[in-house]
Amino acid sequence: RLPQVLAEYPWSHDGWFSAYDHAAIRRGHQVYTQVCAACHSVNQIHFRDLVGVAYTEEEAKAMAAEIEMEDGPNDEGETYMRPGRLSDPLPRPYANEEAARFANGGAYPPDLSLITKARHDGQNYVFSLLLGYREPPAGVSVREGLYYNPYFPGGAIAMPKMLVDDGTEYEDGTPATESQQAKDVTTFLAWAAEPEADDRKLMGVKWILVLSLVYLTAAYYKRWKW
Ligand code: HEM
Repeated sequence: RLPQVLAEYPWSHDGWFSAYDHAAIRRGHQVYTQVCAACHSVNQIHFRDLVGVAYTEEEAKAMAAEIEMEDGPNDEGETYMRPGRLSDPLPRPYANEEAARFANGGAYPPDLSLITKARHDGQNYVFSLLLGYREPPAGVSVREGLYYNPYFPGGAIAMPKMLVDDGTEYEDGTPATESQQAKDVTTFLAWAAEPEADDRKLMGVKWILVLSLVYLTAAYYKRWKW
């Protein structure tokens, strides 16, 4: 049976006054780049979006410069390759959906920019899905090329299990257990779906403060001066 209700995990960025855990975004970006980016894009995120969020400007520029971007046309009308810049999107693994399906036995690894918004209970779903691979229960058979995962609608997913303990090495020394990587990459994807969240919340706090002052002044004026 499929789980009807996902576990609610205490994401540190949930809550009216909570910002994202930026060290987790950085680790999550590392997991995304080293593991997920082989098949999934995050089209909405550009290198510049990572500046001041997970990397310094120099770090982000250096990362961008490592990729090759097609640009053009130049004066001769030709396209040409150049090193990536801050204004470029994170590189995508396939040119288009057909190429992606061709490489994945017909299944389409979706763009992950908005996955935590597009799926019911997004971040809990992604986290559970990544850790949800197990042996199919007795009596359940899964077609060749699919993997049993009770968190995926239908229970059989075309994406193999991706995360294993120490599958990556974190530069901040955090032990890269399977669940740590799942948590970090989910945090990265949650941030990618709403990169403005921290600013928006800060703005909200400021507006509430200012409007409270306005309200108190108006109330005082009405009651005692008018
Ligand atoms: C599907 C995340 C790595 C291939 C998905 C889905 C998520 C996801 C959330 C489900 C989307 C939905 O609900 O429709 C991730 C993350 C990865 C990762 C976070 C890295 C940790 C990979 C890699 C591959 C891959 C490396 C290729 C080898 C696929 C495919 C599907 C899929 C083919 C579609 C599955 C289907 O429709 O049955 N991925 N993925 N993924 N992923 Fe990944």
